[in-house]
Amino acid sequence: MSSTTLPPKVDVYTEIDRLRKEKNAVILAHYYQEADIQDIADFIGDSLQLAKAARDTDADVIVFCGVHFMAETAKILNPTRTVVIPDMDAGCSLADSCPAPELKAWKDAHPEHVVVSYINCSAATKALSDVICTSSNAVRVIESIPEGTPILFAPDRNLGAYLIRQTGRDMELWQGTCIVHETFSEKKLVALMAEHPMAQVIAHPECEPPILAYAHHVGSTSSLLRYTQESGFEEFIVATESGIIHQMEKANPNATFFPLPGLDDSCNCNECPYMRLNTMEKLYRCLRDLEPELKMDEDLRVAALKPLERMMDLG
Ligand code: 13P
Ligand code: SF4
Repeated sequence: MSSTTLPPKVDVYTEIDRLRKEKNAVILAHYYQEADIQDIADFIGDSLQLAKAARDTDADVIVFCGVHFMAETAKILNPTRTVVIPDMDAGCSLADSCPAPELKAWKDAHPEHVVVSYINCSAATKALSDVICTSSNAVRVIESIPEGTPILFAPDRNLGAYLIRQTGRDMELWQGTCIVHETFSEKKLVALMAEHPMAQVIAHPECEPPILAYAHHVGSTSSLLRYTQESGFEEFIVATESGIIHQMEKANPNATFFPLPGLDDSCNCNECPYMRLNTMEKLYRCLRDLEPELKMDEDLRVAALKPLERMMDLG
């Protein structure tokens, strides 16, 4: 039996429910988690909503069904809680692209610049940043920086380029990308649009500029979900990780959603391989054993908290 295979007769849903009550745990899940995890979670959200939920919970245990930088953010904001994550290897290509020593060298070479980092980065990278943003509040964060102040933006070059277009601010961009959002195929998008001329194209700002150029609406995961509920349209081509379509379908049972495929037909490239490392079985084991636990050096936590609080203070 593999280490992730359950013993026979364990009803994983019932057990997760029992264990979360027994341990006074809250299960937080990102929209990119598999459908079963979304359905059993106490709270589903985008990165900003999940950070706020982690900060505000009074549960003893936070079970973070998302990726590592999200669980780190929960620990930074709420250090007295036990934070566990079903799979500690659930990383992020954007966070990996921007190791703290390399960001420090970039920052040292630009001493006059303010460093704005997208929340998709490690605690060590956050600690070197002046302010953090998510895709929900990035425009507001950039606009909070006085005109004329030069800005370094890390690590997502696509979100950075989108922000330059939205705010008119000139920024130096770190060249990181998301392995999911950079893979979307423009050719397949054009074909889907031709097939479904009434469909609205909705896209996450981590997508490459040619994809964003076709989008009727660009926004964070929660913003895309809200658009499907409030825009009145009934067909949507979805240019983000396909996990979110579960919530879109639940909220709009009469609407139709077409996930935009990646360039490569041989893989489910619109599924984040890191997010999908978390499974119901691992969630069950993690609640049962309270492992793997995310721990953090206190000096690092305090340093990373400062730019996160600056973001939170912007509302
Ligand atoms: P959101 O903040 O929009 O949920 O995005 C998180 C993410 O990792 C997108 O790839
Ligand atoms: Fe990171 Fe992309 Fe996965 Fe989001 S979808 S967690 S940005 S690799």
